Amino acid sequence: MSLKFTEEDMREIEKQLSCPSGPNGIEVGHKMNASNIGMTINSIDYLDLNGKDYVMELGHGNCGHLDLIFKVSDRIKYFGLELSETMWQEAQKINANRHAEFRLYDGQTIPFQDNCFNKMFTVNTVYFWPNPVALLNEIERILTSDGVFVLTFATPSFMKNMPFVGERFRLYDVTKVQKLVKESNLIISDIRHNSDKVELQKGDWVTRNYIMVKMKRGNVE
Ligand SMILES: C[S@@+](CC[C@H](N)C(=O)[O-])C[C@H]1O[C@@H](n2cnc3c(N)ncnc32)[C@H](O)[C@@H]1O
Repeated sequence: MSLKFTEEDMREIEKQLSCPSGPNGIEVGHKMNASNIGMTINSIDYLDLNGKDYVMELGHGNCGHLDLIFKVSDRIKYFGLELSETMWQEAQKINANRHAEFRLYDGQTIPFQDNCFNKMFTVNTVYFWPNPVALLNEIERILTSDGVFVLTFATPSFMKNMPFVGERFRLYDVTKVQKLVKESNLIISDIRHNSDKVELQKGDWVTRNYIMVKMKRGNVE
């Protein structure tokens, strides 16, 4: 039996993806974590973590992947920032036995002092950033001088065929991200292209191409 979604259903899914809330948000959080896990694992690998790292993740959703980070070393200090109160609560519930700190913020001003984190990453959130250059500058501000930030997002050619992608999503390709970064205080140190398979509906698997952009602070001696 194939389920037919209405346009209204799609707009609700889009809203939930941008900021999950309530019981539907909890369900979307589980689905997001499962369908994005390949992108998350490769972003974590790309950070080349070790036990001395201070890690910050922006937009962790329900953070069902935290064990993968602590598998590298349980001495890692992990901090998560979310816009969604539902995801903030879920992440704390799911990781109650873990030593991690989760905070809520307004999506623009990061509530941490300068030079706090040497590893930062975010997966599938850039589409929703209201002012991307300002947020990149916030990331640069809290990054240490030797720190790295990994920005991971799916390509526009994949995203534009997703029925839930509407006006809430701003899509980026490498050229657009390069332009944003040029306007910010960060610089790009490396870029990786990757792909995985995602199940859109039962038995309907598609290839998702995605990009991971590694950045560091500019103007560092
Ligand atoms: C599509 S989900 C991705 C969640 C998770 N990273 C994953 O890949 O499964 C987007 C998440 O980013 C959060 N978000 C949206 N805008 C954000 C922002 N400006 N800063 C941090 N998180 C944000 C949403 O609340 C949501 O939980």
